[in-house]
Amino acid sequence: MSSSEPRLRLATAADAGAIAEIYAPIVQSTAISFEEVAPTAGEMRGRIEKTLVTYPWVVADGDGAVLGYTYAGRWRERAAYRWSVEVTAYVRETARGRGIGGALYRALFRILEAQGFHRAFAGITLPNAPSVSLHRSVGFTIVGVFRDPGHKFGVWHDVGWYERPIEADGGPPHEPIPLPQLAGSVVTAALQA
Ligand SMILES: CC(C)(COP(=O)(O)OP(=O)(O)OC[C@H]1O[C@@H](n2cnc3c(N)ncnc32)[C@H](O)[C@@H]1OP(=O)(O)O)[C@@H](O)C(=O)NCCC(=O)NCCS
Repeated sequence: MSSSEPRLRLATAADAGAIAEIYAPIVQSTAISFEEVAPTAGEMRGRIEKTLVTYPWVVADGDGAVLGYTYAGRWRERAAYRWSVEVTAYVRETARGRGIGGALYRALFRILEAQGFHRAFAGITLPNAPSVSLHRSVGFTIVGVFRDPGHKFGVWHDVGWYERPIEADGGPPHEPIPLPQLAGSVVTAALQA
């Protein structure tokens, strides 16, 4: 595989197969995800479509394939939490360490800022040095560590929670703008910056 510069764009339902393929080994062989059964392409398609109703899901294309992806989702359900999102990122094993995870997250945060979100949170099953490095490098700081919230492959796992401001503290927020209502030019600029 060559190392051409990846191109960032919003995901579509047609990316479901590639995304499911990137995610499956994480579910099947690691405790990075607490899912125990890898979602099918069909299930992934549903997740992408549901996410894009409100939140961004960004993919990196390169070398004729999807090399990585990131997306945001609601942090907690109760109304006053609606300016907070949970985010995650995955990069194809053969494409790691090339700056793709960082580029994906930075684009995601530019879109989330334009939508009016306020805080991002990420949970990292520990240890995961690449993920901790990625999150620190894009501005996350640790909130704390939950001890043993998950049990997978016969072992209890700790999860570190990280937070990152999306926009500077200011006055009262406006309602978050659902992704489809954000101007296309704003999304394009966020993906290319
Ligand atoms: C975590 C992950 C998304 C990082 O993606 P990536 O494209 O390899 O990361 P980048 O190349 O953009 O590197 C981002 C930062 O992490 C650092 N980093 C990357 N790989 C690292 C490694 N193996 N060990 C330590 N630091 C590492 C980079 O040096 C960089 O830091 P810098 O900006 O200070 O130089 C990728 O390793 C991955 O998909 N891992 C499996 C899934 C996973 O853990 N996802 C996170 C779920 S919480």
